[in-house]
Amino acid sequence: MAEVFVLANQKGGVGKTTSTYNLGVALADIGQKVLLVDMDPQGGLTFCAGFEPEDLEKTIYHCLLRNTPAQEVVVSNAFGIHLIPANIDLSIAEFQLINAPARERRVTKIVNEVRDEYDFILIDSQPSLGLLTLNALAAADQVIIPVSCEYLSVRGTTALLKLIAKVRGQLNSKLVVAGLLPTMFDSRTLHGRRILKLLEEEFPDLHLYPHIVARSIRFAETAADRVPIFEAKIQVPGALAYRELARELVKSK
Ligand SMILES: Nc1ncnc2c1ncn2[C@@H]1O[C@H](COP(=O)(O)OP(=O)(O)OP(=O)(O)O)[C@@H](O)[C@H]1O
Ligand SMILES: [Mg+2]
Repeated sequence: MAEVFVLANQKGGVGKTTSTYNLGVALADIGQKVLLVDMDPQGGLTFCAGFEPEDLEKTIYHCLLRNTPAQEVVVSNAFGIHLIPANIDLSIAEFQLINAPARERRVTKIVNEVRDEYDFILIDSQPSLGLLTLNALAAADQVIIPVSCEYLSVRGTTALLKLIAKVRGQLNSKLVVAGLLPTMFDSRTLHGRRILKLLEEEFPDLHLYPHIVARSIRFAETAADRVPIFEAKIQVPGALAYRELARELVKSK
C-alpha cells in the first residue's frame, strides 16, 4: 500500500513541483510504483511530466467534482510516472467545493481509490494554504517541505507548520512532517550556508534532509524540455540529492 507524501510550502517558487517530479522519477528508477497527483491549477507538474494541461480531457477536476474514478484519469509517461493531472479547471473546483459536504476530504477519497496499486503517492500542492492544500494535507501520511535557501522561505515555514498542526488536530491525526528539503542551495554564498544553519536552529524538532538540492540552471532547462533532471547532458549535483532522498524514503517505508 502506498505511503502518501505531500510536498507543501505556501511560498511560491521554492521547488515543490521540481522536487515532486524528480523525486517521483528517482523512486520509479529504483523499482517503486509511483503515482503523482497535481493539485495546482497552474498544472506545472502535468507540464513537466510531458502533458499539455489544457488539452487533457479528464483531470483531477473530474475526480473532485464529477465523481470520475481516479483510474480513469491517470496518465503515464516514459519515465515510469503515473499522474493524476491538473489544469486551470482546478481553480474552479476550489470555488465549487466551498459549500460541498466533506469538502476537505475529497482528495483523501481519490487517494484511497488507488492506494493499493502504488508504493508511493506524491502530491504537488499550490503556493497557498487554501482548500486544495488542506485537501492534500488531509490525504497525506507525511509532508515534505521544500525550502529554498533564502531567508523569506524560512519565515514562511512557520505558517505552514501552524496549518499542519491544525490539520493534525481536526482532519488527519496521523500526519507527520517527514522533513525539510533544502533546495536551490548555492554553496558559493555565505547566505546559503547561513540559511541551513538557521533552519537547524529554528526547527530543532524537524528532520533536515542531508540531501541538499544545489542550485542549477539545468532544472529550468530540463523542465522546459519536459524531461527529468537525470536526463541532463552533464551530471547535476542536485539530481543526486533526489536519488538519495528516494533511497531514504524507500528504506524508511
Ligand atoms: N535546484 C534548483 N536550482 C535552480 N532552479 C531550480 C531548482 N529547482 C527548481 N528550480 C527552478 O525554479 C523555478 C521554480 O521551481 P518550482 O516550479 O519547482 O517551484 P514551486 O515551489 O513548485 O513553484 P510554485 O509555488 O509556483 O508552484 C522553476 O523554474 C524551476 O525549474
Ligand atoms: Mg509548483
